[in-house]
Amino acid sequence: MSVPRRLRLGMVGGGDGAFIGSVHRIAARLDDCYELVAASLSSNAERAAASAAGLRLDPARSYAEYRDMARAEAARPDGIDAVAIVTPNYLHAPMATAFLEAGIHVICDKPLAISLAEGVALASLARERGKVFALTHVYAGYPMVRHARAMVAAGEIGEVRLVQVEYPQDWLAEPANQSEEYQRDNWHNDPLRAGPNGCLGDIGSHAYHLAGYVSGMLPNEILAELHAFTPGRRLDDHVQVMLRYANGARGMLWSSQMATGCENGLRLRVYGTKAALSFEQENPNELWLTPQGGSAQRLTRGRVRSAAADAATRVPSGHPEGYLEAFAQLYRDAAARIHASDAAQAVPELTLGMPDVDDGVAGLKFMDAAMESNRQGSRWIRLAE
Ligand SMILES: NC(=O)c1ccc[n+]([C@@H]2O[C@H](COP(=O)([O-])OP(=O)(O)OC[C@H]3O[C@@H](n4cnc5c(N)ncnc54)[C@H](O)[C@@H]3O)[C@@H](O)[C@H]2O)c1
Repeated sequence: MSVPRRLRLGMVGGGDGAFIGSVHRIAARLDDCYELVAASLSSNAERAAASAAGLRLDPARSYAEYRDMARAEAARPDGIDAVAIVTPNYLHAPMATAFLEAGIHVICDKPLAISLAEGVALASLARERGKVFALTHVYAGYPMVRHARAMVAAGEIGEVRLVQVEYPQDWLAEPANQSEEYQRDNWHNDPLRAGPNGCLGDIGSHAYHLAGYVSGMLPNEILAELHAFTPGRRLDDHVQVMLRYANGARGMLWSSQMATGCENGLRLRVYGTKAALSFEQENPNELWLTPQGGSAQRLTRGRVRSAAADAATRVPSGHPEGYLEAFAQLYRDAAARIHASDAAQAVPELTLGMPDVDDGVAGLKFMDAAMESNRQGSRWIRLAE
């Protein structure tokens, strides 16, 4: 996928010491589709300036405040084409709103927003302004996930009957992350900054997106329990959800940050009437296919015949690709979409796998229903239409 020129990228969040901002910067550089030219890298003005200097950004384009950045960049003839939003959750919607209103495309980290109302408003604003809105549900960037999605869509596993997705981690079980200071200071435990849920939005949102992305279905009813194991935690650190689908399929979603020994154990299994698929994020170059009554087959990146997977792969089979390439894939998709959008062309077909603002709204509907189910003592709840 070639692009006519490097896009000028801005970033909000991602200053020194932050986690995901640097991953976004690597992803943006990997395929040479972007150049970072402006930023508001931290909530702390000094750290924002120091971080910008470390990235050799023009000091005149390092901003202390994102609204000033949106305004100033929109006014420049060489202003940014797109902004990457990599701040804590509560800032996603106001920041995306400011940049969309300034006519700038958005690449935003998940969850889309901290309420369904905010998410719905963002989706309609992005549509009204005709701007690309990429949402970095990174696992949708893996070639073998794209291949699995294409196989399900082509009917290769038959009708989907069971969707089983889990995302266990253990970092909140670390003694340091159980301390009073951590509970008090870390934004992941602060409803004002994380939003009304913890593990659910942090990684449950990824699991939910992946399940829908591959199976091609979203549930219409769910039953959820949200739990906090750690005394002092104000938000859930463990989530278990049952799923019912309109076609009669059933499923389960489990996400936990208290699962001792689990690093980043995102795993999806989809069972159809003809075959089953299994994908594990920690071994992303392979996908297991088991036909009904047959033996498991290991499908590998670079060896499967698949336009969707080939378009998302960079090096030949046997050389591992991983998280950074998957992230880069979403950046590459977004770049192709932005160029097409700016040239008033149709959405390029190979970028249809890019998660967008509508995926974010679907995720927020799920989170809303999960919280409501939990409030009602874990009853079945219909998802909003
Ligand atoms: N897609 C993924 O796989 C993935 C992985 C991790 C985190 N995330 C998401 O990315 C976001 C950031 O997470 P993180 O772990 O990097 O957080 P972090 O706390 O490490 O970094 C947040 C950064 O945002 C900055 N910031 C806060 N307020 C700001 C403001 N007003 N203006 C400019 N900068 C501001 C902070 O100074 C910091 O640099 C979260 O929404 C999280 O859910 C996504």
